[in-house]
Amino acid sequence: MEKLIIEGGRRLTGVIRAEAAKNSVLPLFSASILTDRQVVIRGVPAITDVLCMAKILRELGASVRFCGGDVVIESADACCHEIPSSLTRELRSSVFMLGALLTRFRRAVIAYPGGCDIGLRPIDLHLSALKRLGVCIREREGYIHCSCDVLRGAEITLDFPSVGATENVMLAAVMAEGRTVLEGAAKEPEIVDLQRFLNAMGAKVRGAGGDIIEIEGVSTLHGADFSPVADRIEAGTYLIACAVCGGELEVEGVRAENIRLLLHKLRENGCKIHTKNDKIRIESSGRLRCNRRIETMPFPGFPTDLQAQMTALNCAARGSALIVENLFETRFKYVPELQKMGADIEVRGRSAIVRGIPRLHGASLTACDLRGGAALVVAALGAEGVSEVTELSHIDRGYADLAGKLSRIGASLRRVP
Ligand code: UD1
Repeated sequence: MEKLIIEGGRRLTGVIRAEAAKNSVLPLFSASILTDRQVVIRGVPAITDVLCMAKILRELGASVRFCGGDVVIESADACCHEIPSSLTRELRSSVFMLGALLTRFRRAVIAYPGGCDIGLRPIDLHLSALKRLGVCIREREGYIHCSCDVLRGAEITLDFPSVGATENVMLAAVMAEGRTVLEGAAKEPEIVDLQRFLNAMGAKVRGAGGDIIEIEGVSTLHGADFSPVADRIEAGTYLIACAVCGGELEVEGVRAENIRLLLHKLRENGCKIHTKNDKIRIESSGRLRCNRRIETMPFPGFPTDLQAQMTALNCAARGSALIVENLFETRFKYVPELQKMGADIEVRGRSAIVRGIPRLHGASLTACDLRGGAALVVAALGAEGVSEVTELSHIDRGYADLAGKLSRIGASLRRVP
């Protein structure tokens, strides 16, 4: 089992280029089975969620080749519509395969999805939206069986702007008969990216980024060569790390409008932020003020995927902060680990009250989920003394070469067996 050994207290200085967004690449992989032509996705990060999604596509009969940072997918020979539980348990995003499998095969069987253990992650919105498109759904022994004779466009309203449900509707409606109007859609940049990708394949989708997405079914889709949007969560994590450690960091490739609220919060902390085109520059003295309140919301609100990292930041800042998690139920599981470092945090249901102390100290830490794991690394980089972080498989799901990238900007950390 590998671990990260982190010596805190180094300033971070330099340039980091953001990878393609994990949360965009995963649905694009699903979308690639909608055509029997070749699909090329550029600049795909080497993270285990992507490798797992590649395994799922291969299981279906597609060919997936990694060439440099690019991925070439050919699914002309895909013939299987069933995803085994061993794979869905590893990766919750396998649920995004439902819409694409239904478009391609008119049927889909998947085991109930897994992924991060951050509270109940129901898929009722996915299933009721698919029913509106004419899909018949049965649940048996942990498996969801979906089938339809034909997919028919429909008017669908989501009670909550679920990212995955929005993507599933797009993937199921893109070649359905007639027109689909999806109201209450998620507005995340990754949804806009999926629309761009589908349209590059010849689809007729518009409205992504707003409340209503309209999809006119087409009869075929062709191949595409596509560069996904940059990973705003990865970029945000490095910006937060620099804020905590002090230093000057430029993150390239990510547009400020995709993490506007994070930048606002970092300014509240006392950091200087400059943005130009797709570059974001942060300057931090390392002496920070707490945010009064951070509340996670669907986009364009504060992203739940940066909540843990910002909690870590607030632990060693002046004042106190209220962190409210509105999206997932148990997304404070990393808190006891931060407490081992001396953090003063009180969790009450969906809120955490952080009382800042001058400095955290090094400790032996265990990552319990992807973003919670990243938060521990951020905290350890700013702490006094040495920390070690284990259970790195959680972090590897979403951060490519985290240790290498941080070392190159001045952090003292190494990955050891
Ligand atoms: C996606 C992201 C994840 C991010 C999340 C919220 C991917 C691969 N993952 O996850 O990183 O944290 O968006 O921005 O893109 N819900 C239901 N019923 C449903 C579906 C969702 O009640 O059928 C609830 C969930 O329990 C949760 C909330 O809606 O409370 C948000 O979920 P959703 O937007 O669907 O997130 P994911 O697509 O799972």
